[in-house]
Amino acid sequence: MLSYIIEGNSKIEGTVEASGSKNAALPIIATAILNPEPVTFYNIPDIEDTRITLQILKLLGCKVYADNGRISISSKDMHNKTIPKDLMHKLRSTVVLAGAILGRFKEATFSYPGGCNIGKRPIDLHLKAFKDLGVQIEEKEDYIHCSTKKEMIGAKIKLDFPSVGATENIILASVYCRGVTHILNAAKEPEIQDLAKCLNRMGAKVYGAGTSRITICGVKKLHKTDYRIMTDRIETGTLLCAAAITNGTIKIENTNPENLLNVLFKLKEMGCNILINKNSITLKAPKTLKRIDIETAPYPGFPTDMQPIISAVLTKAEGTSMIKENIFENRFKYALDLKKMGAKINLNEDKNIIEITGTSKLKGETVSSRDLRGGAALVLAGLSATGVTIVENAEYILRGYENLEEKLKKLGAKIKLEKVV
Ligand code: EPZ
Repeated sequence: MLSYIIEGNSKIEGTVEASGSKNAALPIIATAILNPEPVTFYNIPDIEDTRITLQILKLLGCKVYADNGRISISSKDMHNKTIPKDLMHKLRSTVVLAGAILGRFKEATFSYPGGCNIGKRPIDLHLKAFKDLGVQIEEKEDYIHCSTKKEMIGAKIKLDFPSVGATENIILASVYCRGVTHILNAAKEPEIQDLAKCLNRMGAKVYGAGTSRITICGVKKLHKTDYRIMTDRIETGTLLCAAAITNGTIKIENTNPENLLNVLFKLKEMGCNILINKNSITLKAPKTLKRIDIETAPYPGFPTDMQPIISAVLTKAEGTSMIKENIFENRFKYALDLKKMGAKINLNEDKNIIEITGTSKLKGETVSSRDLRGGAALVLAGLSATGVTIVENAEYILRGYENLEEKLKKLGAKIKLEKVV
C-alpha cells in the first residue's frame, strides 16, 4: 500500500503546468482501435488509468509505443475483440473501448467495468444505445457479447441522462455506421468536444459536440493522425484549491480557463482573487475564505469531480456551506476522514447533502483514500492541517494525477509518497 505523508502548515506558492486530461485521454486512446492507420497522441498523462488502458490495447493486439507523453499506436493487426475481465474491472472508462471495438469489427466482448466506487454506475444507457444501432446483446456468465451480422446503421438515440461515457461510446460506435446518428440529450463536457475534434482530424464527421445534440455522419475510413489532447481541468481545479486552502498564491500554465469557469466563479465567490489569461490562471487566496453553496450538475454546471476537493477548502471557510451532490449517490465518503481531522461536517444521506462549518483548525491524522477525488481532497486537507497527515491508499490518487507529489513539492509542500508494508 502506498501512502502520502504530508507535513502540514504549508503555503502553496509558485507556478506549475497542467498535465494532459485523464478523462479526455481514455476515450481518445480508444479512437486508435477504431482507426487501423497509425495514430500519435501528445500530452497523454502518465497515470495508472492510461497505463492500464494501453495494456489492454496491447492485449487486443495493438502495437503501442510510449515516450514521455507521446503515445503512438497501430491497431492494423489487432485481432482480439474481448477485453479481459480483470483489466476491465480496474477502471470505468474501459467501457468506451467496447464502442470502439464494436464500431471497427461489428463485434465486442467485455464485462461490467470497475472504477471509483462513488455510486451504482450502471451501463444501461450504453447498452440501450448499442441496441438502437442494431446490435444484438447477449449476457453470459460475466461477459456481455455485442455483435451484429448486418452493418450497423445510424439511429436517433435519446439519452435519459447526459452520460459522459455513454455519449463517448455512441460517438465511437457510430463513426462507421451507414447513415446518420443523432444523440439527443448528449453530454456537453469539454472531454467530449476533444474526442470529436480528434476523430474529425482522422476524417470522421462528428458535429455539435459541446451541445446537447450531436450528429455523426458515417464515414468509410479514417486516416493517419497526430493529436494533442486537452489539459486536465480537474487537476487544474485541484491545484487552485491547494493554494486556496493554504492561503497561498498559484499560477497554473498550459491550461484552459474556459473549461473551468464554473469552478472559478465559485472560488471567486469564496473571496479568491483570480486572474485569467488565454492559457493560464492565477489564484491568490484571501485571508479568510467565505462560505458558499454548491450543487453539482452536468457540464457547464459545477463538476462532481471537484465536489470533494472544494469541500476540503470549505472546511476552512467562515460560516456554514452546503454541498449537494446530484450526479453520484455515494461521493461523500471522504467526509468521515475530514471529520477525523477536525472538520465540522453534517451528512444528510437521504438528500445527498453535506453541510460544512468552517474551522481554522484541521489536525494531522491517518486517513484513507476511498476514491480518486476524495483522496485528493484529503491531501489538500493535510497540506493545511497542523502536524503530519498520512493519506493511505494513495493508489487511488495515482490513478488520476500525474506527478502530484513533485508538483506540490515544487509549490512548497512537504509531501512524500511512501510504500507501507
Ligand atoms: C465520467 O464518468 C468521468 N469519468 C467521471 O470522472 C465523472 O465524474 C463523470 O463522467 C461525470 O462527469 C471518465 O470520464 C473516465 P456518467 P462516467 O456516465 O462516464 C448514471 C473522475 O474522478 N449512468 O456521466 O462514468 C451514473 O450512474 C471520474 O475523474 C446511468 O445511470 O459518468 C451517474 O449517476 C469519476 N447509466 C450519472 O449517470 C449509464 O448507463 C453520470 O455518469 C451511465 C451512467
